[in-house]
Amino acid sequence: MDFSFILVNPAHVPHVALIQLNRPKELNALNLQLMGEIRDALKALDEDDSVRAIVITGNERAFAAGADIKQMAGKTAVDMLLIDQFSTWDAIRKTKKPIIGAVSGFALGGGCELAMLCDIIIASETAQFGQPEINIGVMPGAGGTQRLTRAVGKALAMEMVLSGRFITAEEAKAAGLINKIVPVELYLDEAVKMASAIAAKSPIAVQLAKESVLKSFESSLQEGLYFERKNFYMLFATEDQKEGMNAFVEKRKADFKGR
Ligand code: HXC
Repeated sequence: MDFSFILVNPAHVPHVALIQLNRPKELNALNLQLMGEIRDALKALDEDDSVRAIVITGNERAFAAGADIKQMAGKTAVDMLLIDQFSTWDAIRKTKKPIIGAVSGFALGGGCELAMLCDIIIASETAQFGQPEINIGVMPGAGGTQRLTRAVGKALAMEMVLSGRFITAEEAKAAGLINKIVPVELYLDEAVKMASAIAAKSPIAVQLAKESVLKSFESSLQEGLYFERKNFYMLFATEDQKEGMNAFVEKRKADFKGR
């Protein structure tokens, strides 16, 4: 596929694909075309049987400094409604395969919201997370008041959203927003390593497990438990379940086929 603002490549390990945001001069500001490219790339990777996990990254200085302010500045509410950018975000959210965010530098506004669409976040020690929309007279629009609050709780989410304060990787880790902090030279390798470990599992089990965890944000406990149980039962219809359990009994490594 031909993209202008992202690079899509296989990682150096099997079954892992890498999407790199590639507007370095603009700190990977998320213009509409870039977001559309991420959506299209994820859709293609979701449909590609050779891919089992996806890493999304930016560069050392910026994961993404937010939606493209220059592109939005002159828009009216009606323009924004008709552009309907959030259908793109909704499509990204529906990606079935696991997404690992490899975050260094700025993850601000839409950049923080994009990181929060990832299932696991590996950050460099220079990463900074923030929802600074309040500084430009607006507020978060792609999950920054909802996913952030669920991840870090009301106190810190309110502070970030109302004051625009950035938090460090350390603070983000302590608050439960990210999974791991590593030195800056290692963040991408570490994310690929995590993706590779997940890619070695049964892809169907991974998909249903991801779906089940995400369900917890949208359901009562009872509904969520019921949903989880159905997915659990369903996995007993897969060859991978037989392979995984037989491999355990036979004391060998499982070879999952995604069937
Ligand atoms: C457009 C941006 C940008 C953005 C940076 N740039 N962020 N362009 N949209 N969000 C551009 C700058 O204009 C500049 O271009 C170049 O990138 C380098 O940025 P500098 O500001 O010179 O760098 P620095 O002084 O290091 O400051 C870094 C920064 C600052 C703190 C990240 O750039 C900043 O505050 N950016 C905006 C962050 C923000 O408010 N994000 C939320 C956006 S609203 P030139 O051409 O001057 O060199 C949002 C809503 C999401 O995300 C809604 C759902 C999609």
